[in-house]
Amino acid sequence: MTSLPVLTLIAAVSADGFISTGTGVPWDLPRDKEHFRRTTRGQWLILGRRTYEEMIGWFEDRHPLVLTRDSSFLPTVGETVASVDAALQLAAAYGAKELFDCGGGGAFAAAMPCADRLILTHVDSTLGSGVPFPKVNPAEWRQTSRQDFPADASHAQALYFATYERLHPTA
Ligand SMILES: NC(=O)c1ccc[n+]([C@@H]2O[C@H](COP(=O)([O-])OP(=O)(O)OC[C@H]3O[C@@H](n4cnc5c(N)ncnc54)[C@H](OP(=O)(O)O)[C@@H]3O)[C@@H](O)[C@H]2O)c1
Repeated sequence: MTSLPVLTLIAAVSADGFISTGTGVPWDLPRDKEHFRRTTRGQWLILGRRTYEEMIGWFEDRHPLVLTRDSSFLPTVGETVASVDAALQLAAAYGAKELFDCGGGGAFAAAMPCADRLILTHVDSTLGSGVPFPKVNPAEWRQTSRQDFPADASHAQALYFATYERLHPTA
């Protein structure tokens, strides 16, 4: 039996737990964009249909799977999947070792219960409301790395990159 890929959620999250105020990403952080590009280059991705449509143009050298309930949706790049489990099975069939969930809120919520790893950019910004990232229960996750960067001329907000591993694997 082929083993399923590691499921990793990659997101930029405000200090009060939001990924967006509704449309688009609410900050412009070149360091985070480069981190996302570098981490996902050549990889298999799952994206909610809304985020997929926002990110058209970002998929060169990436393999997007679009999470949608609309069986008639035809992505211009990649394939559709009806569930996170279907995405894991499909990515496994293609030989992927890791599947990166790139959001948005719907895709993160669907994948969080079976996620193995989180790669989060914690942005020093308070949004107040918007699209939430699922709660990260400290009893379930261990932070394994952290790298801090202050605000500067090209970054209005300070940020840190952190990786978390699930303490008790779900499978
Ligand atoms: N800060 C970050 O790291 C980050 C990352 C990504 C996105 N974002 C932001 O997040 C926002 C979008 O988030 P969102 O929650 O509105 O949309 P989304 O998760 O990108 O897409 C939602 C769509 O995905 C499909 N979907 C979601 N859950 C599903 C499930 N369990 N099974 C099958 N299909 C499912 C549905 O598509 P159909 O309607 O086609 O059925 C749903 O309408 C945008 O503002 C985007 O910029 C932020």
